[in-house]
Amino acid sequence: MFNALFVDDEINVLNGLKRSLRTMKDNWNMQFANSGEEAIAMLEDNHFDAIVSDIRMPGMDGVELLSRVQKNFPGVIRIALSGHAETELELECARVAHQFLAKPAEVEQIQTAINRSVTLRSILSDKTLQSALGSVVALPSIPGLYQRVLKEAADPEGSIMNVADIISEDLAMSTKILQLVNSAFFGLSSHVDTVKQATGLLGLEIIKSLVLSQKIFSAYEGLKSSGLNLERLMQHSTKTALLARSIAQFEELPARQCDQAVMAGMLHDVGVLVLANLYPERYAKVSANLDSIEAGPGMAEIEEFGVSHAHVGGYLLGIWGLPDVIVESVCFHHSPGLVADNNFSVLGCVYIANNIINACELDLNDDQLMEQLDSDYLERIACKSNISDWRRMAEE
Ligand SMILES: [Fe+2]
Ligand SMILES: [Fe+2]
Repeated sequence: MFNALFVDDEINVLNGLKRSLRTMKDNWNMQFANSGEEAIAMLEDNHFDAIVSDIRMPGMDGVELLSRVQKNFPGVIRIALSGHAETELELECARVAHQFLAKPAEVEQIQTAINRSVTLRSILSDKTLQSALGSVVALPSIPGLYQRVLKEAADPEGSIMNVADIISEDLAMSTKILQLVNSAFFGLSSHVDTVKQATGLLGLEIIKSLVLSQKIFSAYEGLKSSGLNLERLMQHSTKTALLARSIAQFEELPARQCDQAVMAGMLHDVGVLVLANLYPERYAKVSANLDSIEAGPGMAEIEEFGVSHAHVGGYLLGIWGLPDVIVESVCFHHSPGLVADNNFSVLGCVYIANNIINACELDLNDDQLMEQLDSDYLERIACKSNISDWRRMAEE
């Protein structure tokens, strides 16, 4: 049974939640607390999988409550209910919450958020994986700037140009986005000088991917050394993202999926960052035994940590509330055959792009590349014959 704890200082809100979530009581065990203090007392006595808390409360507010949960109960998924106003308190909350729901939250949104957590726990239901992830203490929270961009993009009165304004306030971010957009990767014919222009040319979804991945990568800059080449990983991720999108376009996937391929490609190896940062010495051992991050990191990581970077990354993005397609693609980018889907999907694009980019980086020939690939999976999604064309495309 999945255990969820709901916290709000307003009795009416709590009662409303109790009533509207009644239908879920066969699937979830729900407890309700009236204050931060009460919630902490309950956490000390019971096991919870997730906490859903209001931010504004007298006494211990949501930020303080979730910080304590982060510190003392790091395995609990933290979801904040936040008002629309963008105040200091809300922004601060981005440091400690895994996910935000706008208040008043619709019951369906709460259900989706909790159900997603349930699914993630069950993807990783394997006991070894669970305890390994349990020991991955305090997974980082979702970056605040990305949260603001999401909010603006979701606001019916918001606009794509306001999103560009928000990003422009962050000088380091704008510089990085412009650098990347003007690099050969995107192949744009004219020079792009402003984030507004970049947003207009590439669209909101791509800009969102860039903001999130840049924030994550820059958060790890200068962190403990673990033998990891951050610059190289960033380049590998960007190349994978763009090739994944080209493959999606080639396969004529819907525009939304082409954009999702960029996000999933950018973030597919994010678990490497998390593991390498949490356990630099142990990760150094893993990478020392490999010519490249990709030459079978899965097995080496599983031996060392009991879990691979793919699962860690998928789990992290899952608790951040990223779309299921992205989570699935990241989680299974080394084992797509485990997913029961015979369609050519975003996962397929990322899987193939990652392998082709690795082959280019390691100078593998086409036969060696094919050996790396899961031929049953390629047959299932019917794309075996295109691999060498796509490789040519990547090389160009
Ligand atoms: Fe990977
Ligand atoms: Fe990779």
